[in-house]
Amino acid sequence: MIGAFRDLGRRGLFMFDPETAHGMSIAALKSGLVPACRTSSDPRLRLTVAGLDFANPLGMAAGYDKNAEVPEALLKLGFGFTEIGTVTPKAQPGNPRPRIFRLIEDEGVINRLGFNNEGHDAALRRLQPIHGNGIIGVNIGANKDSADRIADYVGGIRRFYSVARYFTANISSPNTPGLRDLQARESLSALLAAVLAARNDEAAKAGKKIPVFLKIAPDLTEEGMDDIAAEVLAHALDGLIVSNTTLSRDGLKDQAQAKEAGGLSGKPVFERSTVVLAKMRRRVGAALPIIGVGGVSSAETALEKIRAGADLVQLYSCMVYEGPGLPGRVVAGLSKLLDRERVASIRELRDSKLDYWADRNV
Ligand SMILES: Cc1cc2nc3c(=O)[nH]c(=O)nc-3n(C[C@H](O)[C@H](O)[C@H](O)COP(=O)(O)O)c2cc1C
Repeated sequence: MIGAFRDLGRRGLFMFDPETAHGMSIAALKSGLVPACRTSSDPRLRLTVAGLDFANPLGMAAGYDKNAEVPEALLKLGFGFTEIGTVTPKAQPGNPRPRIFRLIEDEGVINRLGFNNEGHDAALRRLQPIHGNGIIGVNIGANKDSADRIADYVGGIRRFYSVARYFTANISSPNTPGLRDLQARESLSALLAAVLAARNDEAAKAGKKIPVFLKIAPDLTEEGMDDIAAEVLAHALDGLIVSNTTLSRDGLKDQAQAKEAGGLSGKPVFERSTVVLAKMRRRVGAALPIIGVGGVSSAETALEKIRAGADLVQLYSCMVYEGPGLPGRVVAGLSKLLDRERVASIRELRDSKLDYWADRNV
């Protein structure tokens, strides 16, 4: 029955172009039409990461709820946390449409949205009245025409300090020209110094320290990963999110859609993002929190990210194919996998396949 509902919903939404379907799914969540999931309270899935208490390790990745329209509705689907954004200081339209493409055979998505969003003020207005306990992170970025990109990230920290449970500095979107250059060692050092100085200043005023994570690309060389790890540790950043979408087009079946420019996500990015996750875990050591994202489609793939070194996991693209019941199924599935593994906490499985993943090459 649920499967039939899922297929019907998917076939229905697939009649529309992806961006229209996305808008319809946001509207459905706003209206309360999407049934909430009975939230799992399995104590084995609870985790404390970067000082935050998560009911389960699965989060909604950035980019779905760019303007903070439905964070609470997303949490009701079973997610343990959700991330709004990427938000930029000023509203901007992003790239011309069409700019999202489904690769149905591959269960992948290509997007070249280019940080379309309503700007800081609009998202802040929606977040301010929320007083629930749910963990809502704020993903911050820079405007395309910004004269000072670092100032845009600093502005995000200051503006959202009272409402964010964590921040993500997103320097890995492939769709804002030059943005990924912030991953280069010197630029990254300057960015992290400025962002963390702003955070520490706000923390002193507010009397609470909000963690800051850095979201990186899966298209990094070994040297690039060395540099990022060194800077993250040198600046005592709170964690990493690995990874954003890839520019690679390896192994795709849908050759026509594969030609579209933009970042590829969903099942085709699972392998690459998991390898980079494990390689980063090896570099930063056991203590630094890492959120694994890229191609999570099931409890098994979520657990694989944890085995490769992730503390927490996020997903987006596979929900396009699996529907809004996916988070509930992944969380329930994780409990079943823990029965099989006979562990008292999911944390015990972290890094259990670190070498397997870190020794692979992509
Ligand atoms: C349509 C779309 C828009 C996205 N927008 C953002 C964004 O604004 N900021 C960001 O950090 N990541 C963004 N992402 C990347 C996702 O958060 C995620 O890192 C990536 O898609 C890999 O996970 P997935 O395979 O589960 O989708 C976007 C992804 C998609 C498919």
